[in-house]
Amino acid sequence: MNRRELLRSAVLATGAVTLGSALPGGIISAAPVQAGGATASSTGATYVLPPLGYAFDALEPYIDKATMEIHYGKHHAAYVAALNKAVAGQAALKGKSAEELLVGLDQVPEEIRTTVRNNAGGHVNHSFFWKSLKKNDSGSAAAPAAGSALAKAIADTFGDHAKFYEAFDKAATGVFGSGWAWLVVKADKALAIVSTPNQDNPIMNGHKPLLGLDVWEHAYYLKHQNKRKDYVDAFANVIDWDAVDKRYELAVS
Ligand SMILES: [Fe+2]
Repeated sequence: MNRRELLRSAVLATGAVTLGSALPGGIISAAPVQAGGATASSTGATYVLPPLGYAFDALEPYIDKATMEIHYGKHHAAYVAALNKAVAGQAALKGKSAEELLVGLDQVPEEIRTTVRNNAGGHVNHSFFWKSLKKNDSGSAAAPAAGSALAKAIADTFGDHAKFYEAFDKAATGVFGSGWAWLVVKADKALAIVSTPNQDNPIMNGHKPLLGLDVWEHAYYLKHQNKRKDYVDAFANVIDWDAVDKRYELAVS
């Protein structure tokens, strides 16, 4: 097994689903067949809420328990339910992952296209988001492992990690209305910080997402009210940089 295969296996073991070669395989997890034993056939649903993988209070004090309960159990669940409702009876869409729906919206019937865009995006983005977070008891902000390929790429691109996060913070606080800020790998394999509106995902623009931050008010308003920057700063403490680094290695391999 070569390094790429090893990485892919590691991602699959955490519940991600490999997609076709045209997609950033393993980078996102939101496909019809889910981890945690819940499958499309066992539930009767095409898309299923994936397991969170940690307790609702695991990210305290940075992301509070109540927000996690509502964000995962209500908001993400609602995207899944709405996506299932939208694709019900659409034989041409059967078996497509949520990512495949997003990058192939032109093949989705026009009457459900916007609904699929918003809710497949919501499902993909949140599935990805939960797998980007990790409990942190260290009392200091998380960062990529020193000497990792990602740490080097961030230093080469942004100067250092602090400057990277400053730019990410600016992008996240600058999103007008609801949307996401992302660290992505572009087609030329360079790192970039981008934002997307609503529930759009960078794969819709040919980018491979490494890290995403939900800046919809539902993600932070209970704890931080209108102070989005406080939430963006808190997020820095619970980023799972090992997961991000694995995505980076896959994206550039
Ligand atoms: Fe959200």
